[in-house]
Amino acid sequence: MIYLDNAATTIPLPDVISAMTDTMMNVYGNPSSTYQAGRQAKKILDESRTSLAISIGATSDELIFTSGGTESNNFALHSLAYRDVTKKHIITSIIEHPSVLNTVEELEKKGFDVTYLPVDKSGVISIQDVKNAIRPDTSFISVMYVNNEVGTVQPIEQIAELLKDKDILLHTDAVQAYGILPIDVKKLGADMLSVSSHKVHGPRGTGFVFVKKGVRVQPLLHGGGQEQGVRSGTENVASIAGFAKAISQLHLTDKQKHIVQLQETLLSELSKTEIDYEVNGSMEETRKVPTIVNVWFKGIPASKLLIQLDLSGIMVSAGSACSAGSLKPSRILLSMFQDEKRASESLRISFSEMNTLEEIKTLVETLKKYAV
Ligand SMILES: Cc1ncc(COP(=O)(O)O)c(C=O)c1O
Repeated sequence: MIYLDNAATTIPLPDVISAMTDTMMNVYGNPSSTYQAGRQAKKILDESRTSLAISIGATSDELIFTSGGTESNNFALHSLAYRDVTKKHIITSIIEHPSVLNTVEELEKKGFDVTYLPVDKSGVISIQDVKNAIRPDTSFISVMYVNNEVGTVQPIEQIAELLKDKDILLHTDAVQAYGILPIDVKKLGADMLSVSSHKVHGPRGTGFVFVKKGVRVQPLLHGGGQEQGVRSGTENVASIAGFAKAISQLHLTDKQKHIVQLQETLLSELSKTEIDYEVNGSMEETRKVPTIVNVWFKGIPASKLLIQLDLSGIMVSAGSACSAGSLKPSRILLSMFQDEKRASESLRISFSEMNTLEEIKTLVETLKKYAV
């Protein structure tokens, strides 16, 4: 089996599974309990929070654990929307993950006015469009750091620079950026940032949201007042320990180097074939992460290719797993190219440090059979 759908989820590392099992077997206390077993759980929670905070240049009190990227995004948008009820305008992009887009749609129903920034053919928004969209009643901007289907990097630092002297806050969905781009929240300038554990070989169902000191947030979940009172519910200590373990095993520079090699191998091997293809989105190093390569296989329906690859033991995807089940042409590719055929003939191939050059060669050999 060759797993090349790492933007959908990643394989948990053996050490992550061990850390989780160990926590579940030996640390049964509730981290809010004050006796020994509780204190033991609290210690794991605190240590995990500290190492995850360091991983983005934040402090521990700026991290709220959640059930993953979807909750982090819902929480961030809900918080920012209701921080100042006199401001009813939101700016986002057309290529956001559904956990952002569907949330702003809900906010629209509640009276907010939303500007959806377009992207160009390279899959990137324009800073001029952001400037033009800003209004006196703009409350916040939410733009993803890295797109989950084409891997393009959005100009978050530049947006933050634009907002420096304005009372407009900035959220970024960094789910596909974390673990491949070095993130320093101070340099990036975002007020809130969402991360998910299962994209970096941690467990599914865990993540965090960074909340810059001083930003007032609104709970989505009310209850016992865990996580500084803004995210109630007993913390998932085992998963959080697994998440922190995954990050402790991450060697960013080595990972980047390996994944760039995987991407280069894919592109050079493809270029030697008869296959008629084109890469979707920017290939500029500063504009795209190497983990995701989206390819248009001209004239071959993605659904057909997906099945052939699956039967050959290779897992990739058409569009994103999050909207899976349906094989509708990718909304993101449609907004980039306004070309339904192209959108329905494109596949997303996404790497992790666990993939090998041999696997990429096998993929191309298999494509040579079915993509011509
Ligand atoms: C860009 C992006 N944001 C948010 C999410 C949702 O994260 P989770 O699956 O942890 O809810 C995903 C998952 O695919 C994603 O790719």
